[in-house]
Amino acid sequence: MGMSLFGQNAAPNGATIEVPTGFATHLRWIPRLGDIFPNFSIPYGDGEFHFHDWAEGSWVYFFSHPQAETPVCSTEIADVAAHGDELARRGAKALNISTDSAEVQQAWIAEIERIFGVTVDFPLLSDPEGRVVSVCDMVHPHEDALLCVRKGFIIDPSLRIRMIFEYPLNVGRDFEEVLRVIDALRATDHNDLVAPGGWMPGDPLMVSPALGTAAARDRFGARLRVLNPYMRLLQPPQTR
Ligand code: BEZ
Repeated sequence: MGMSLFGQNAAPNGATIEVPTGFATHLRWIPRLGDIFPNFSIPYGDGEFHFHDWAEGSWVYFFSHPQAETPVCSTEIADVAAHGDELARRGAKALNISTDSAEVQQAWIAEIERIFGVTVDFPLLSDPEGRVVSVCDMVHPHEDALLCVRKGFIIDPSLRIRMIFEYPLNVGRDFEEVLRVIDALRATDHNDLVAPGGWMPGDPLMVSPALGTAAARDRFGARLRVLNPYMRLLQPPQTR
């Protein structure tokens, strides 16, 4: 399997950073918001899965889980599977990865489908050697030496990382939050708007600090409610 990490790890400006000795064994990519997600290829089914070919042009929820045939992971996979229509409605798709073998994953998927009455119709990638999951910073040795944490990436259609989150082994994620963030990103990208805390689709958005109030009044007219110079609410458009 090929893997590239955007060239070498040299800091172009010669900067250095001191870290505790135990952390300094090697340098590696730490995924950050705004990074283009690295391409990777990995055996899948009878062929190969090529990440960029699969992901480009869609919103992607790429998530790891610790271990097949465990309770929390089973509920998480079932939860994502149950929301397949919600993902499709948003032009989004899910992708899972773990260090489980493909054989164990297949048996586990059948059991999830039986117990939860869902169809697991998104790929579960098997990375038993841990090459992709380690590059994606999904194994946190002080949480567990071998198993992935519950890491999630939201990646936009141009392959840029837009959200990263990490949950511990013993707490499952809430997939509704993933959908909420995809909705918020779709509603605010490229229009000088931002989504306030707790925003849900249909709630007012707010004007970004990057746009002045005069320009916001010109652009949004009567839908704008100015509370002060930095709290400018945009009422959603009337639906009828
Ligand atoms: C779980 O998914 O239930 C789980 C997996 C690994 C460690 C602890 C819990």
